Amino acid sequence: MDTEMNVRTMPRIGDKAPDFEAVTTTGRLKFSDYAKDKWLILFSHPADFTPVCTTELTGFAERKKDFDALNTRLIGLSIDSVHAHLGWVDNVHKNSGVYFDFPIIADIDMKVAKLYGMLQPNESETAAVRAVFFIDPSRTIRLIMYYPLNVGRNMDEILRSLEALQTADKHKVALPLNWKKGEKVIVPPPKTLDEMEARRNDKSVELVDFYLAKRSLN
Ligand code: BEZ
Repeated sequence: MDTEMNVRTMPRIGDKAPDFEAVTTTGRLKFSDYAKDKWLILFSHPADFTPVCTTELTGFAERKKDFDALNTRLIGLSIDSVHAHLGWVDNVHKNSGVYFDFPIIADIDMKVAKLYGMLQPNESETAAVRAVFFIDPSRTIRLIMYYPLNVGRNMDEILRSLEALQTADKHKVALPLNWKKGEKVIVPPPKTLDEMEARRNDKSVELVDFYLAKRSLN
């Protein structure tokens, strides 16, 4: 397998998210229409009717209202048929009462998985890895997570990352290690000597040094 080629064609942070049309559990959709004016989480799982994937999609379904509150749509993907998806959605609903209330792409020809670098041949040549693409309303890829087949993702971290991206955009700030909503944010470092001096005298910021300053958002 040409891994060099795979690396070159994998979307990266800052790239425009490639558009596609696909068959999903809610019908055929065009990605750019589905994503219109919304943040989007595009995530892949290796296979339907498998244990880790069942816990993960249950996690997405259970937190869907949190994604809705962040103006964010979910769309899943695996290299399975739509019939397998429907059977799995129904099976999980019967077993646990949880309903996967978002489209899941049936990427049986691997077209979308290849477009997004979700097929990583040294991990598996037939199943997508556990990818998460955070895509903003201008359809720019803002953050990417890749997990291997045998490690489930962390839903709190996915939501925290989404909230961090949106907060960074809204307030033109950066977020420190382990930042959570309500905590202090990092003010961009000064670009001139005058700005540096002003920063030293700014009582609204917690100044560690001229290049590391934090402030509350309220
Ligand atoms: C799982 O979801 O449990 C799983 C799927 C594919 C490979 C390994 C684990």
